Amino acid sequence: MIKANNNEVVLGDEDLIVSKTDLKGRITYINRTFMSISGFPEKALIGHQHNVIRHPDMPRGVFHKMWQELKSEQEFFGYVKNLCADGSYYWVFANVTPDFDQQGTLRGYYSVRRKPNPSAVSLIKDLYQKMRSEENSGDRKTAPLRSWAIIDEYLKQHNVSYNRFMIESDDTKEAC
Ligand SMILES: Cc1cc2nc3c(=O)[nH]c(=O)nc-3n(C[C@H](O)[C@H](O)[C@H](O)COP(=O)(O)O)c2cc1C
Repeated sequence: MIKANNNEVVLGDEDLIVSKTDLKGRITYINRTFMSISGFPEKALIGHQHNVIRHPDMPRGVFHKMWQELKSEQEFFGYVKNLCADGSYYWVFANVTPDFDQQGTLRGYYSVRRKPNPSAVSLIKDLYQKMRSEENSGDRKTAPLRSWAIIDEYLKQHNVSYNRFMIESDDTKEAC
């Protein structure tokens, strides 16, 4: 088990981290950027569940929602904090989509991640921290739904849909 530490790896503006999975979330493809940012060799990733890079700070509610969307053949956008092989972390803005073959049969899933907008990450960190403490405070089974309710409440207060919130928060990139 990898022990998470506080070293951050920051993606370059042009970095795109790509992976593909089968229907059960086992990794079937990764690009070179995935390996160079995460520090995992190919053999530690291919054939393994995608949660090998799961960071303990990530709320379960986010992945619950991601899988709910994927299972209904919808795409998902989200900010994700991932774990590197040496315990460092990196934030990404991820798009995860169903992967259909030429006959239109669902074959697995596909994710492309890029450098996130730093101001969106600082807002998301706050929300994720609240979600984690909600998840740690009560019944484990209902934890993902209870913690997602924190996102729903935020969206209601700001009168915005989840996807619009994701896309707009990432769009307002700060000038470098
Ligand atoms: C295409 C695809 C990409 C994924 N990418 C990530 C990722 O970058 N980081 C991550 O922690 N989980 C990712 N997941 C979700 C994992 O499969 C898993 O649901 C998550 O890590 C939570 O695992 P756990 O419920 O076993 O703790 C991805 C799933 C799919 C289908």
